[in-house]
Amino acid sequence: MAYCSRIIGTGSHLPERIVTNAELAQTVDTSDEWIVDRTGIRERRIAHKGETTAALAFQAAENALEAAGISAQELDLIIVATTTPDNTFPSTATKVQAMLGLDTGAAFDVQAVCSGFIYALSIGDNFIRAGQAKKVLVIGAEVFSRIIDWEDRTTCVLFGDGAGAVVLQAEEVKAGDKVGILSTHLHSDGKLRDLLYTDGGPGTNSTVGHVRMLGREVFRHAVTNLAAVVDEALAANGYEKSDIDWLVPHQANKRILDGTAKKLGLSEDRVVITVDRHANTSAASVPLALDEAVRDGRIKKGQLVLMEAMGGGLTWGAALVRW
Ligand code: UT7
Repeated sequence: MAYCSRIIGTGSHLPERIVTNAELAQTVDTSDEWIVDRTGIRERRIAHKGETTAALAFQAAENALEAAGISAQELDLIIVATTTPDNTFPSTATKVQAMLGLDTGAAFDVQAVCSGFIYALSIGDNFIRAGQAKKVLVIGAEVFSRIIDWEDRTTCVLFGDGAGAVVLQAEEVKAGDKVGILSTHLHSDGKLRDLLYTDGGPGTNSTVGHVRMLGREVFRHAVTNLAAVVDEALAANGYEKSDIDWLVPHQANKRILDGTAKKLGLSEDRVVITVDRHANTSAASVPLALDEAVRDGRIKKGQLVLMEAMGGGLTWGAALVRW
């Protein structure tokens, strides 16, 4: 018997507090004009003290389970993609598992920074294809605000906090059926790890460290790598660029989104954009954007949805889904 993964529910959750560009300009040497012009970001959500990745992830999970119409007890596996776990260990996923009232199934975290959700989705999909799980909760959740150097204007204006989740369910398919997650494509190049990293962590010192980024270099790699992985996903399934109904990209910079859309020949109304309101929420950005477009009715059953992301590592990837 062959199985595919269907996304049967999506959910998300954002902290209440909105921080505008103007507010940031009061503490660092920046301006609303510079941030909007270079990134498209107008505001971001910032978690309050004590509001953790697990707390955001749990809310997103509850929303996704409700949308899927299943109870948490039915889950075989919980995967949380995060770079900002509540603790060094245990995993944030096991914390979410407990918050959902579960002591069955398995739970673990995945670390691929901004590509984390695509990595976690790929792992969940492969568990289902292998017949090892029937229902999988995949979450991308971050409180990036905790690892930002709030005095570094080149990074502190770029990020925000949030969480998004999807529920995957196994569906029996015949050879040649093109439904659900059609394929996922993952890449990394560890030689480029110094372009985007934190200067802390258990292996370096006792602090979690702060985000350091060579923005212009990362930008250059993002444009090239995302175009390549998108082509790879389409070619693997015999589709043309014109077959895509929706692009749900990682939300790092509006200029990167525009560049990818242009390469795909997609008009802006086929691209789900949240970067203006969420900024870059790392592993949460794709599922946050996906949930918004599913809930407001843009993404409809039968449509072809392309998700992609790139982040520290460097890591990058794509997922093609027949909704
Ligand atoms: O999610 C993971 C993947 N991450 C990304 O994809 C991020 C990719 N990179 C980017 O999005 C862009 O490179 C940035 C938004 C980070 C920066 O934009 P840029 O157009 O590449 O600017 P830049 O780094 O070349 O800096 C241009 C100028 C510099 O001043 P000088 O040296 O020309 O005098 C910066 O110091 O802008 C200055 N600058 C700022 N000015 C006002 C940098 N940050 C700011 C700021 N406000 N916040």
